Order: sequence, then structure tokens, then C-alpha cells
Amino acid sequence: MAHRADTAAAAATWDRHAARYPAQERWEIAAIDAALRVAAPRPDERLVDLGTGTGLVLRRLATRPGERPRAAVGVDRSRRMLAGAGALPPGWSTLQADARAVPLPDGWADVVSCAYVLHLLGAEERAAVLAEARRLLAPGASSRLVVVTVWSDRPLVRVALRLLARGSPSACAALRPWDPSDDLARAGWVATYRVRLPRRGYPSVVVLAKHAPPT
Ligand SMILES: C[S@@+](CC[C@H](N)C(=O)[O-])C[C@H]1O[C@@H](n2cnc3c(N)ncnc32)[C@H](O)[C@@H]1O
Repeated sequence: MAHRADTAAAAATWDRHAARYPAQERWEIAAIDAALRVAAPRPDERLVDLGTGTGLVLRRLATRPGERPRAAVGVDRSRRMLAGAGALPPGWSTLQADARAVPLPDGWADVVSCAYVLHLLGAEERAAVLAEARRLLAPGASSRLVVVTVWSDRPLVRVALRLLARGSPSACAALRPWDPSDDLARAGWVATYRVRLPRRGYPSVVVLAKHAPPT
């Protein structure tokens, strides 16, 4: 019950940010496009975007030239954020749900993306979202998880971001820097690609990860 109350409160916070959220999307685009380039979902594949918000990952994917997955689902618990996703290609949809318990079958997705979400969550919720990403991904070497978070390798930039992010629940709280690599390794993922994007848009890191091979 406490868990449900927390979820409702978090959803309400993002409902309040929803109208202003698109104004800052331009600072996310470079990293999200980089994530889509490395994850490269194919036309025979299905994608789930966890914490999709206003659906920027889906919208960038829909408009980029070339191939796009046959199905894509953007999951978020904020109804007003989801409303910003607008019209999506046939076979694509949004789903109001918690990213820790997505009502889709095990192994439904070939690609799971999670952009600008994990660095906002506490350790327990992050671990639960990563576990859900694992459940949603089809077993096998070609399935992949792509994560984007706010991060910089430059200590001064990290300090500046932390200062800006103080005073949650202001919108700047979303700038809290956090490198996903350790959590991914602890959760049993193997990072196969990592790129830092310090100049265009938010200082960010993109990590592509796969299931660790059985030992
Ligand atoms: C900073 S926004 C990022 C939105 C989008 N991925 C983007 O890059 O523009 C964070 C989003 O994550 C969602 N979120 C955070 N934790 C969640 C959870 N456990 N389940 C579902 N949505 C969650 C919030 O509702 C919010 O819409």
C-alpha cells in the first residue's frame, strides 16, 4: 500500500511537470539519438521504453530515416506526461504503468530503452526497474538494454550539476549526475558500448548493455 502511495505521488509530480517538459527536450535529443543509433532496433523487433515521459524516444525513433521496430511501447506512470507523446505509428502505443511492473509478457521485447530516468530514482527502485528490463527482454545474445543518464567525467561539471539538482522537487532535480555502469554490472548486465556526450545538450552518458553470458 505504501508502495502504491509513493507511486501515485511520483506520478502526480510528473503530471505537474508535463506541460513544461517539452521546452527542454532539445537538450536531450543528441543523447537520445545516439542511444537509438547504438541500439538500432530492426523492423522485425519490438521495443519497450521505460519511463517514456512525453515519448521523446518513440518520437525520435518514429521520425528518423531508415528502419523502425514493428512494435514499440512507451511506459510511464504519469498520465499527463504520456499525453505529450501524441500520435504514434501503427503498432506503437503508450501504457500507463509502473516501470517496475509492466503488464507485458516475459521476453516480449528485443530492445529496452530507459532515457533520463534511472538517475532520478533511489537504489531500490533503480534495481527493480533494471530487473523488470531483464524480465521484458527476450533471452539471447541479441537482446539489448540502452540507458541514458545525466553524467559527466569532469568533476567540476558534476559538482555544478549536483548544485543545480539540489532542492528537489524542482525540475532541476532531473540534472542529478549518475553513471549507470556499476548498477548495470551489479544487476548482471555487460556493457558493450559507452559514449559520453558532454557538449551537445545535457552532459550525458549512453550505455548499451546485454545479458551477461551464463557462467
Ligand atoms: C525526466 S523524465 C524522462 C522522460 C523521457 N524518458 C525523456 O527522456 O524525455 C522521467 C520520467 O520517468 C517516469 N518514471 C520514473 N520512475 C518511473 C517508474 N517507476 N515507473 C514509470 N515511470 C517512471 C516519470 O513519470 C517521468 O515521466
